[in-house]
Amino acid sequence: MSVLPVSEQGLGERTAQQRRYLMCRPEYFAVTYAINPWMDPAAGADAGKAVAQWEELRATYLTLGHEVSLIDPVEGLPDMVFAANGALTVGGRAYGARFTYPERQAEGPTYTEWLRRNGYAEVLDAEHTNEGEGDFLALDNMILAGTGFRTEIAAHQEAQEFLGRPVVTLRLVDPRFYHLDTALCTLDGENVAYYPAAFSPGSRAVLAQLFPNAILAAERDAAVLGLNAVCDGRNVIVNAEASDLISAFQHHGYNPVPVDLSELRKAGGGPKCCTLELR
Ligand code: ARG
Repeated sequence: MSVLPVSEQGLGERTAQQRRYLMCRPEYFAVTYAINPWMDPAAGADAGKAVAQWEELRATYLTLGHEVSLIDPVEGLPDMVFAANGALTVGGRAYGARFTYPERQAEGPTYTEWLRRNGYAEVLDAEHTNEGEGDFLALDNMILAGTGFRTEIAAHQEAQEFLGRPVVTLRLVDPRFYHLDTALCTLDGENVAYYPAAFSPGSRAVLAQLFPNAILAAERDAAVLGLNAVCDGRNVIVNAEASDLISAFQHHGYNPVPVDLSELRKAGGGPKCCTLELR
């Protein structure tokens, strides 16, 4: 791997931590309904191309030394490839998703059943609407939680009570960035990158206070879902089109690993959406 530029803040070389991810091959991927502004059923999408791009993402994780588990795709659930939405796992507990739209509702129990069968003894079937890691992003000392389009604030409270970690509510205001993970990504357990205009003024102030050293993305990088990135503390798997954001990651001492998930973006997803972290 290439030599990393030392970050501006003199933090030196970043270290990667091995992660466990859950993914779902997009065998039945399609754009047959529209539940976010990225989706156009008239334009459709190519499942074969989506599978090829997804395989590259999976291979990238394996090359970087991460573990990838697979959940079987279900016919008739075209968005199931977006595994991040299936749950939020923290400290060996899994908080299950309860999807907003009927088109995706069957995914919730499918993911929680997988988690129960694969080592999670404590799995909560949520009472309140929430879309897992689409709207919940865990840092070392807190969980950031989006609301405004999908996940209800009551779910933020439910997750805090079940997981025993502080949950910070952030309000999303731009329908293109309907999930928190389309507008913000975690970097090293303490820092984040985000697109400020996706958040309400109050939430922007909260983010500025919590993360004075955050990487701020410009609109054109956010608009190719550049913030839907996955970071292991050092490597950042990021949509290849987000060129200024990629430079910013590099400048801050991270190692950007560009991927092409353009076919999955037709449903409003990127690398992070395809990836549920198993903690
Ligand atoms: N079409 C899916 C939806 O609108 C995309 C989900 C993307 N996932 C994510 N974590 N942002 O629900």
